[in-house]
Amino acid sequence: MTTVTLQNLQKSFGDVVAVNSIDLEIEDGEFLVVVGPSGCGKSTTLRLLAGLEPTTDGRIEMGNRDVTGVEPKNRNVAMVFQNYALYPHMTGRRNITFGMKSSGDFSDAEIESRVEDAAETLDIEDLLDRKPEAMSGGERQRVALGRAIVRDPDVFLMDEPLSNLDAKLRIQMRAELARLHSALETTTVYVTHDQTEAMTLGERVVVMNDGQIMQVDEPQVLYDFPANRFVAEFIGDPAMNMIPVDIENGHAVHDAFTLPLPSGDDSPSTERNGAGDTRISDARHAILGIRPEDFRLSDVQTDDGLPTIDAEVNVREPLGDSLLLHCSIGATACNIQAEPRTEVHAGDTVSVTYDPARLHLFEDKTGEAFYHSGLHLPSDEQVVSQVSK
Ligand SMILES: Nc1ncnc2c1ncn2[C@@H]1O[C@H](COP(=O)(O)OP(=O)(O)O)[C@@H](O)[C@H]1O
Ligand SMILES: [Mg+2]
Repeated sequence: MTTVTLQNLQKSFGDVVAVNSIDLEIEDGEFLVVVGPSGCGKSTTLRLLAGLEPTTDGRIEMGNRDVTGVEPKNRNVAMVFQNYALYPHMTGRRNITFGMKSSGDFSDAEIESRVEDAAETLDIEDLLDRKPEAMSGGERQRVALGRAIVRDPDVFLMDEPLSNLDAKLRIQMRAELARLHSALETTTVYVTHDQTEAMTLGERVVVMNDGQIMQVDEPQVLYDFPANRFVAEFIGDPAMNMIPVDIENGHAVHDAFTLPLPSGDDSPSTERNGAGDTRISDARHAILGIRPEDFRLSDVQTDDGLPTIDAEVNVREPLGDSLLLHCSIGATACNIQAEPRTEVHAGDTVSVTYDPARLHLFEDKTGEAFYHSGLHLPSDEQVVSQVSK
């Protein structure tokens, strides 16, 4: 049983605060992904977990054991790096067994049997007698994974292990890592800057910025109920549109539109993000968040009483499965995702509407979310009555 607990974890390099008082509990057997932009402190957090860097302050527990000052080799963790870190002059087999052999803790027979198991799990029997120079990037990363799993560690620590692979191989290895995790059920902390990788691999995802945790949640919850602007703009591609508005009498007012804000009081975010004290009745400036995929080109036939918004199309980007329109709504730049093959061109003005259950409001100054309109559509009656004011 290996839960991992970080308490007030801090790491400074001179004046640079790389990790700024992180509190986190990682469950036994969990696949936890840490995601954030380059330089936000992901690798440093992982190196603190591995024991490769001393902490500046705080405490690390693994399986209820305080390991804060413990040597890396006594933590029983295995780390996988972006650059594979294989020895070029050793075969795949030697690379995999090197750490076990030099530790002196394993008999030759034990080592042999573990290598056979790992090779089968990872489908790398063919690579055991080759040197890294004769392997592709994906094959090298598999061998590096093999070296990690033969150790049968309590915790896997993976630092952008797929970043050096091409896009197609990355998707394939992503699926393999997910399969490997469900087979081994080893507690895993996986670091990436790629939000798609985070969303697809993580049972829970930690979003980091500037050495701090911005939000920890299941992937869909991060997407549906971002706790702040940072998470809202980092998770989801293309990013959520951020539209400055004034809140007046339960409406969001922009130069180009006025739209009603359905009662958000019973959205799940109320408990999750502390965004519960809905203050949409208080007049103030705010930022209205609407995802590109939550806009739609309006069709008078089907749109049931929602206000429509005029958007001027500046650039049209066909993506194959959708059409991305870079638009101006009044003075605000907005991306709108439309059906592919829609006959819309740069210079056109289109009429758009939006999903009323997917509106987000953020504090102008702090960027904290204070309202999500909720997953549940308000009843038609409610929408009509709000619009007809
Ligand atoms: N050994 C080091 N010495 C000085 N600064 C460092 C060192 N390692 C990391 N940093 C700094 O700490 C911050 C976080 O780095 P890092 O954890 O590598 O970020 P990430 O992995 O998220 O890209 C950065 O500002 C980086 O420059
Ligand atoms: Mg890094």
